[in-house]
Order: sequence, then C-alpha cells, then structure tokens
Amino acid sequence: MEKEKNRETILDIRHVSIYFTRYERGIRRRKLPVIRDLDLRVHPGEVVAVVGASGSGKSLLAHGILGILPYNSRMEGEMFYRGEPLTKERAEKLRGRQIALIPQGVTYLDPLMKVGEQLCRGRKDEETVRRCREVLDRYGLGPETEGLYPFELSGGMARRVLIASAVMDKPDLIIADEPTPGLDVGAARRILGHFRELARGGAGVLFITHDLGLALTIADRVAVFYAGETIEEALAADFEDPERLRHPFTKALFRAMPVHGFAPIQGSQPYPGTVSSGCPFAGQCQACQEACVSTEHIPVRQIRGGLVRCLYPEEGNV
Ligand SMILES: Nc1ncnc2c1ncn2[C@@H]1O[C@H](COP(=O)(O)OP(=O)(O)OP(=O)(O)O)[C@@H](O)[C@H]1O
Ligand SMILES: [Mg+2]
Repeated sequence: MEKEKNRETILDIRHVSIYFTRYERGIRRRKLPVIRDLDLRVHPGEVVAVVGASGSGKSLLAHGILGILPYNSRMEGEMFYRGEPLTKERAEKLRGRQIALIPQGVTYLDPLMKVGEQLCRGRKDEETVRRCREVLDRYGLGPETEGLYPFELSGGMARRVLIASAVMDKPDLIIADEPTPGLDVGAARRILGHFRELARGGAGVLFITHDLGLALTIADRVAVFYAGETIEEALAADFEDPERLRHPFTKALFRAMPVHGFAPIQGSQPYPGTVSSGCPFAGQCQACQEACVSTEHIPVRQIRGGLVRCLYPEEGNV
C-alpha cells in the first residue's frame, strides 16, 4: 500500500538534512547543519511552493534533489523519485530530461555556446530543432535567439532561455529556483502561468521563492522554510484567512505582505548552524515560551490538513 502510494508521488523527500563541514582555526572540523529534518512531497499535477528568506536553504534543497551539492556538504535522509530511491547516480541520469532545474543564476548558461546549441544539447534532428523553436517562441523569444551567445542576451532574455532549456524535453519534475527576478510582474505571471500549464499536463513543479505573494498566485501548497526547517506546510487557500495559518512565522509573513499591511518582522533569521536545539524562530516570536527554547526537537504536528513545527501553534499571533 505504502509502495503504491509512493508511485503516485513524483518527489518524496523524507527526513533530509544537509550539512557543511567547516574548519575552525584550520584544524577543528565542525558540522554545520543548513537543512534539518526536511519532509516534502510533490504529486503529479501539483505546484508546490517553497517560500523562505534569503539564506534559509532553498537553493541547497534544489541542488540536493539534483545531486549537485557542493563538495564540502553531506546529505542525510531519503529522497524518492517516482517511488524509487533518488541516488546521486540516478539524479545525474534524470537531470535535464525527467527532472529539470531552472537555476537561480543565469551564470548556469554556457558562455561559449550559442543558445540553440544549448537547448538542443548536441542533437540536430528535425524534431529537436522544431521543439527548440517552439519553446523559445513559448517564452517570447524569436528564432534569431538560437544564434546568440549568452553575453548577447539581456538579463530577462537569459532568464527566459533558462526556462526554455529546462522544459525542452518535457520533464516530469520542474524545480524552479527563483525563476523570475528581474522580470516585470506581467512577464513573471506569464511564466508562472506556463508552470501551471506544465502541471496540468501531469508534471510536478517545485517553485522556490522568497516572495510569498508570487507563490500564492500559482501554488497549490506552500512549504514555509525558516533557517533550514519547514516550519509549516499549508494549502494556498489557507492564506485567504490568517486564522487558518498555523505557525507564528507564517502569520508574520502574511502580515508582511504589501497587501496585508507590510508589517515588518522584528529581528532576523539565525545563521544556519547557530541554533542547535529548540525552535529556530524563538528569538523573533512574540508567543515564545520557555519550552520553545528548552525542547530539543520541536515535533511536526498535523493541524487542519496542514503541518506545523510549533509547540503552541494556536497562540502564535504575531
Ligand atoms: N558551499 C557552501 N559552503 C558553506 N555554506 C554554504 C555553501 N553554500 C551555501 N551555504 C550556506 O547555506 C545557507 C543556505 O544557502 P542557500 O543558497 O540554500 O540559501 P537560499 O535560501 O537559496 O537563499 P537566497 O534566497 O538568497 O537564494 C546560507 O547560509 C549559505 O551561506
Ligand atoms: Mg537561493
């Protein structure tokens, strides 16, 4: 039964932690946890947003899924793609074909290769060339773009090329890491609309962003990241009423949205590895109690069809 359920899940992340090894004073090795005990699932037809502030571990999560973490990092826990373990070797085989990454930086484009060659990945057959034109056109880029080198593209064009390149082979899972910075609201919404279209065709989309408002324009579900932990997983519909939200940080994020009053969140997120136990949001939470600091591991609880990692979720009105 469990196995059967897994098959319906495109991506299944269980208890994943990512650590960096850092050397202190040149000799002492220190394990620095950046992502801690993360669980996340993406189903076919679903857009799941991961929302978190800068430095909360969003890109590392994307790179962990793709098997392209930096050499000084280590991952623990399990990841499954369509029910089978997603090992580094398997991720390498699926990368660019069934699993596509839209990276956060446009530097991922090869500076020495024309756009057309990058999209076709060495293939020259008629079908590939036709598909290349089709995806470029989909993202508002004319056929002349094929003959351009990355340095000849504007920032917005380079972004769209990255997206076109990711969807070229009709992937099953699209991981979009901040795909729309530098694009105007209209262009950003059009791109997000394409993600919805891909999901309608059966793909799963993991949309990574710091912008909760943008996430809510497209996501079915939102996982809120704070200092490398998922502190809440909610349905996008829960954000229509802040009372339905569960974690004080999510409520604070909601109130920080321009449409909900732009209320600033006091203090800042702790640097990864500086909180070894207790709730990482404790220092900023106005509903914080002693147990929030003294409890070593705050468990994840299921409330109203969502998940929350908080000891006093109903009291957290910030
Ligand atoms: N190679 C590395 N060595 C050590 N620490 C790293 C390395 N790469 C990232 N980190 C740390 O891991 C944390 C998470 O980084 P990550 O890039 O995932 O953040 P992010 O949520 O994507 O931020 P942003 O919204 O700015 O893109 C950061 O604090 C960063 O300093
Ligand atoms: Mg990032």
